[in-house]
Amino acid sequence: MKKFFFVSGRIALFYGLKSLKFKTDDIVLLPSIICKEALLPFKKLKIKFIFYKVNNNLFPNWEDIKKKNHKNVKAILMIHYFGFPNDVKKFINFRKSFKKIIIEDYSHGLDGKYSNFLLGNIGNISISSPRKILPINSGGILQINDNKIKPYFDYQNIETYQVSKIGVLIGKIKNLKFFRYLKFFLKNNLTYRKKINHQNYLNQKKKIDENSYEIFKNKNKYLNKRLSVYSKIYHILKKNKFDIIYKLNFKANPWHLPFYINNKKQLNKLITLKKRYNLNILKWPKYPKEVNKKLIKSNKIIYCVTLN
Ligand SMILES: Cc1ncc(COP(=O)(O)O)c(C=O)c1O
Repeated sequence: MKKFFFVSGRIALFYGLKSLKFKTDDIVLLPSIICKEALLPFKKLKIKFIFYKVNNNLFPNWEDIKKKNHKNVKAILMIHYFGFPNDVKKFINFRKSFKKIIIEDYSHGLDGKYSNFLLGNIGNISISSPRKILPINSGGILQINDNKIKPYFDYQNIETYQVSKIGVLIGKIKNLKFFRYLKFFLKNNLTYRKKINHQNYLNQKKKIDENSYEIFKNKNKYLNKRLSVYSKIYHILKKNKFDIIYKLNFKANPWHLPFYINNKKQLNKLITLKKRYNLNILKWPKYPKEVNKKLIKSNKIIYCVTLN
């Protein structure tokens, strides 16, 4: 197994896909619940893809995959949504039965386990995005788990991302307890939002910055903290009868806590809870235009509470 540290998950995926050396007619099966960022490397490398349907538990609809699986399909993408293990055993059976490659997207979690498996060690290649989980400026990992796959890039000569002094300072402020309140106060300020969302550097084909790599090495301290926040938020949502997608699972180190909003009443309740507990709530994902809307259940909108 080999690990390579990049600036973001999408860049780790870019180099991972490159190393798979797909031919022009090869196709990758992708889940229809996917964000724009995850699709970028496929588009950049001009890799053909087809979307498969996803069930309410965000596991694949294997009936749909059966229909779409043919000889040009070389690989399938398995996303562990929000850091919770996906349909691992069925993916492994699929790989074995049809001799396909599993591309494992574990960019929503870190160091999680499922049964006897370590998440991130299952796919022929796997990516993660520690920058989402830890208080770091950059970080995406490509893990090549299959010895037959050789890295098709010159890691030594890839430039390291340099964070400006201001970037390091922002990182330090983010680590302070009061930042949560500061963020809450600043969130409605458009200028602030514009600056922080300007994350073009995540598309640069560079390695993780040195400061982030040092913090990554002490990741356990942060992961434990996140688990206690996760448990608290889970119980708030459970008590208020939200349609939470995954059960409380301490073997996972989730990114966010996802649930469905099916009607206006629940949405109003959510707004009340947001104010009462100062929750940070997001809708996920921002779909790329390539996903056919017919594949997405319009009455099942995924919301999540962030654990940062
Ligand atoms: C499923 C999935 N894969 C990959 C990525 C890319 O990760 P990053 O934002 O670190 O490039 C994201 C996030 O945007 C994601 O949600």
